[in-house]
Amino acid sequence: MNLMIPKHIAIVMDGNGRWAQKRGHSRLFGHIRGSSRVRSIVRTASEMGVQALTLYAFSTENWSRPENERRVLWRLLKKYLKKEADDLHRQNVRLRVIGEVERLDADLQEILSSVVERLKGNSGLQLTFAISYGSRRELADAARRFALDCVHGILSPSDMNEAVLEKYLWTAGLGDLSEVDLFIRTSGEHRMSNFLLWQSAYAECVFVDTCWPDFEPKDLIQAIEEYSRRERRFGGIAGAGPEFTSLNSEGMLLK
Ligand code: FPP
Repeated sequence: MNLMIPKHIAIVMDGNGRWAQKRGHSRLFGHIRGSSRVRSIVRTASEMGVQALTLYAFSTENWSRPENERRVLWRLLKKYLKKEADDLHRQNVRLRVIGEVERLDADLQEILSSVVERLKGNSGLQLTFAISYGSRRELADAARRFALDCVHGILSPSDMNEAVLEKYLWTAGLGDLSEVDLFIRTSGEHRMSNFLLWQSAYAECVFVDTCWPDFEPKDLIQAIEEYSRRERRFGGIAGAGPEFTSLNSEGMLLK
């Protein structure tokens, strides 16, 4: 089959806890196995020519998790960054972080910004980690900063439109790539969970039953195959190709 490669894939890496508990381990073990999945998925996306990949690593709502679980997640993230930075660089991957990064520990912030800085000249896959991220927070923050620009006389309320709002979103750095084409969630849950809501307005959603620690490159390829079979209409009509523009004088469709 002809594969249509989505430009931007967003993934909710869900099910670490359930995966571990089902096997008689603690939830934390699920995060350990989940974090080791990231590497091969990033590599596969990059090799397939995906231009942007955004991974939901921690939501604004995840702050309510026990402190030891949060600590393990930060440790795994640091380990990933230290271990993978060279390889990401070799793959020409650029890294960004979206979310309320200022809420993270200073040492994690430091490692994140040093890897982001190191990879900032790369032009391959645009990898984004969403950490302490929530779409509602992102939109509220955009509204607040736009209002401030109005107060300071830089813009006025009548300047607001969709393109202007996008410039205030945390994904603004992705430019034309900020719109999500394929939204994947693992673990059988069928929710967006406050992830890239604006950017996914016309995303194709693929929900897979596999929990994140078992999500392999072949599952990513399957999701892309499923995406390739979808017809994206963006609110238009089915098959709105050239054949639908050929009508006779009575308005009948000419085949
Ligand atoms: C959801 O599973 C997963 C998370 C809240 C964290 C995702 C984080 C990782 C995969 C590791 C981060 C590391 C890197 C390198 C980005 P859950 O715990 O909510 O699972 P459950 O729904 O089964 O409880």
